[in-house]
Amino acid sequence: MIVLGIETSCDETAAALVNDKREILSNIVLSQIADHAPYGGVVPEIAARAHLDHLDRLIAEALEQAGVGLSELSGVAAAAGPGLIGGVIVGVMTAKAIALARNLPFIAVNHLEGHALTARLTNDVEWPFLLLLVSGGHCQLLLVEGVGSYRRLGTTIDDAVGEAFDKAAKLIGLGYPGGANLERAALTAQNPGRFELPRPMLGRPGCDFSFSGLKTAVRRCLEPLAKPLSDQDGADLAAAFQTAVGDALADRTARALAMAETLAPACRTLVVAGGVAANKSVRARLDSLATRHGWRFVAPPVALCTDNAAMIAWAGLERLRLGLTDALDFAPRPRWPLDATAPKARGAGVKA
Ligand code: KG4
Ligand code: ZN
Repeated sequence: MIVLGIETSCDETAAALVNDKREILSNIVLSQIADHAPYGGVVPEIAARAHLDHLDRLIAEALEQAGVGLSELSGVAAAAGPGLIGGVIVGVMTAKAIALARNLPFIAVNHLEGHALTARLTNDVEWPFLLLLVSGGHCQLLLVEGVGSYRRLGTTIDDAVGEAFDKAAKLIGLGYPGGANLERAALTAQNPGRFELPRPMLGRPGCDFSFSGLKTAVRRCLEPLAKPLSDQDGADLAAAFQTAVGDALADRTARALAMAETLAPACRTLVVAGGVAANKSVRARLDSLATRHGWRFVAPPVALCTDNAAMIAWAGLERLRLGLTDALDFAPRPRWPLDATAPKARGAGVKA
């Protein structure tokens, strides 16, 4: 089985091929960072047009690199949401066109399920597992019981953690996109204990997250500092921020481990996924937490944590194996929760 995956839900245009032996035959990611950098964030209309400009060529390259013809495909999968709808439509329409022309099954993949199942592509991970999904748009703890089967244990009540990284990086003047830049700056800190930042939600019942207070606290730390900010001030503040985020993630995840042990006693694997899972200090914190609790810890390789199409192809393949294909009138979804039954998060800054 070979599946073509297409990812266009945010600011990466990507195409990849994976097979049912868990081999990534090709994996091409074209970042639009340069297109959006002048605006300090992703501009949806620019993103959609850039996907349209490049996607056909990337798909041809992915097939060529893999040495696979369209006739050898078993199915075509596209991220069909959640995400910036203009871009999602580009990817879904392209996948549907190939599926129709070649009489192949079409698989509408939830972008979040792509992140969620990546660990099953890269490691031997069985159901159930506990997933910490940390990306630019989401911060959730989920019990994953099978393909399409998710129980949300906690979520953010305001900002996503990647969004918090990006906003803190912008405040510190580290540019866009912020997460990786902030991690790099934190490595050069000389006095990481110099700034005191809050640990939002620490010790609270449940395992919801909150990050907007942290961003405000970073702004407050910056006020008395000389401008332009010295590299050292920036690095120390970046390190303080990263430590505070690590504490918050570890505290909330520890609670989720306990919840998972009750809900699904067979669950002994903690998986982290999404762009923020690329962060080495976050990975190290979660690794030691899991080890302390006698759990296994799995984090996909860094390049498969940030958005890519191999994860979409793999999630598509997992669905295809179960006969979970979609009709060609499937409508792209700007919002698409993994656990549609989860109660709405409550908090001051909750987004719809
Ligand atoms: O999963 P992803 O590529 O896209 C979404 O689905 O949102 O995640 C992007 C997010 C951005 O907020 C970015 O700043 C963050 O992941 N990120 C990082 C790192 N690399 C990417 N955050 C912290 N440390 C990193 N090394
Ligand atoms: Zn993502």
